[in-house]
Amino acid sequence: MTTIPPQQQRENPEPDESLNPIPWFVILLTGLLLAFGVIYIARSAITNAPALGDDRVVAELQVAAQRVATGAAVDGAALFASHCAACHQATGLGLPGVFPPLARSEWVLGADTVLAAIVLHGLSGSLTVEGKTYAGAMPAFAAQLQDAEIAAVLSHERSSWGNQAPAVSETTVAAVRKSGAARTTPIAGEKELLQLKQAALAGTSAAAPASASPTPAAASAGRR
Ligand code: HEC
Repeated sequence: MTTIPPQQQRENPEPDESLNPIPWFVILLTGLLLAFGVIYIARSAITNAPALGDDRVVAELQVAAQRVATGAAVDGAALFASHCAACHQATGLGLPGVFPPLARSEWVLGADTVLAAIVLHGLSGSLTVEGKTYAGAMPAFAAQLQDAEIAAVLSHERSSWGNQAPAVSETTVAAVRKSGAARTTPIAGEKELLQLKQAALAGTSAAAPASASPTPAAASAGRR
C-alpha cells in the first residue's frame, strides 16, 4: 500500500480547455463587414475623387496613353531590360561564345538601317563581332515592338556601356520596316549583313538601300 503524501493531497486537478464556440456577435460582425465591402466596391464609381485612388486624374492617364502611342518618351533602357538583356546581358557584354556583345559592337555602332533590320527581322547564321564568331539565332522583334520602341532601344544601345553613336530615329525604323515588310526569314548571317551595309553606304535615303538589298541577297543565295 502506498500512502499519498499530504503535499500531493492538497493539489488541485490540472485545468483543461472546454469547448468554446465563436460568439454569435463576432460571426454577425464579420458577415456585416463582408457585405459592406462587397456593396461598397460594387457601388463605387470610377469617377470618384482621385484622392481616393492613386491621385491620378483622367487627363493624366490620357497623356500617358498618348505618349505610348506617339513614342514621345519611350524608355529605351526599360525596353532593353525586358526584351534584350536576357541574352545580351544588362552589361551589354553578352555571353562569350553564345550571345554577342552590344558594347563596342561594330554592328551597333554602324549603319542605323542595318541595325534596325537586325532587330526587326532577326538574325541567324555565322557572324563576327569584335573578332569573335557567333552562330546563334537572334529573334525578330517586328511583331512585338513598335517603330518608336525599336528606335528607343537602339538609341539606348548606341549611347550605353561606352558606346557613342547618334540616336536611331523612328522614321528610320519605319522605313526599314516598310521596305522589308514582305520578309519572313531572319537575316542570313554576316554575308547578308555586309550586303545591307554596302547598300546603306551607297544609298542616300534611309529607305532606299534596305529595300533594294534583301531581294538581290535572297536571289543570289538561291543561285549559289
Ligand atoms: C534569345 C536571345 C536574344 C534576344 C532576346 C536578343 N538577342 Fe540580339 N542576338 C542574339 C544572338 C544569338 C545574336 C547573334 C546571331 C548570329 O550569330 O547570327 C544576336 C545579335 C544581335 C546583334 C548583332 C550583333 C552584335 O552583337 O552587335 C544586335 C545589334 C542585337 N542582337 C540586338 C538586340 C536587341 C536590340 C535586342 C532586344 C530588342 C536583342 N538583340 C535581343 C540573341 C538575342
